[in-house]
Amino acid sequence: MLKKVCIGVLVSGSGSNLQSIIDHIESGTLDAEIKIVISNNPDAFALDRCKKHQICAMVVDHRQFDSRESYDRQMIAILESSGVELVVMAGFMRILSSEFFRAYPRRIMNIHPALLPAFPGTHVQKKAVEYGVKFAGCTVHFADEGVDTGPIIIQSVVPVYEDDTTDTLAARILKEEHRIYPQAIQYYAEGRIKIQGCKVFIHNTHRLAEKALHNPPLTRF
Ligand code: GRF
Repeated sequence: MLKKVCIGVLVSGSGSNLQSIIDHIESGTLDAEIKIVISNNPDAFALDRCKKHQICAMVVDHRQFDSRESYDRQMIAILESSGVELVVMAGFMRILSSEFFRAYPRRIMNIHPALLPAFPGTHVQKKAVEYGVKFAGCTVHFADEGVDTGPIIIQSVVPVYEDDTTDTLAARILKEEHRIYPQAIQYYAEGRIKIQGCKVFIHNTHRLAEKALHNPPLTRF
């Protein structure tokens, strides 16, 4: 029986990634225990999801604090006292200060709806459609002091179609987010993640078949 990884989930909005983590825990496919969910936004729908699933949640409103550091110190105190070993940012819209990385070195995960290092920042699905890329996707990575930087754990690639809108692409990517985030946390729970420099190695994964993807599809080559 695998020991469950104790996680704290940081949210700001809808919480659909949180919901996917909850669903996988409840179905027994994810060996994790959510010790606490913290939202910086008192109106986050993610909090309703916690109520429905009897998950301990609280609001720590960043507007009540006079600095990023004091806010982070309060968040860290709550996470540590809740027994959190892995911090999972799921739609959390705040930049973490170095206090966080001192408290949880290489134990903070984030999900980003783009194939990092391409398209860091916000509104990335819109930027991808406007740029005309043929593939987009999402990335789970260990957070570091940068914005959407840090060692990449897993990525998922989706095609971008010519008639895609920001919403249709975002929906396609979000479905993949809900698959790769639980997978990344499960790799961690199984102790299969090794970080060397800026690279992550997952122990004992089978090699992806060497199959290139083409969008638009090749007609004769
Ligand atoms: C997701 O696209 C996630 O990648 C980004 O915030 C969006 C909303 O996430 N960080 P959620 O529905 O609140 O989990």
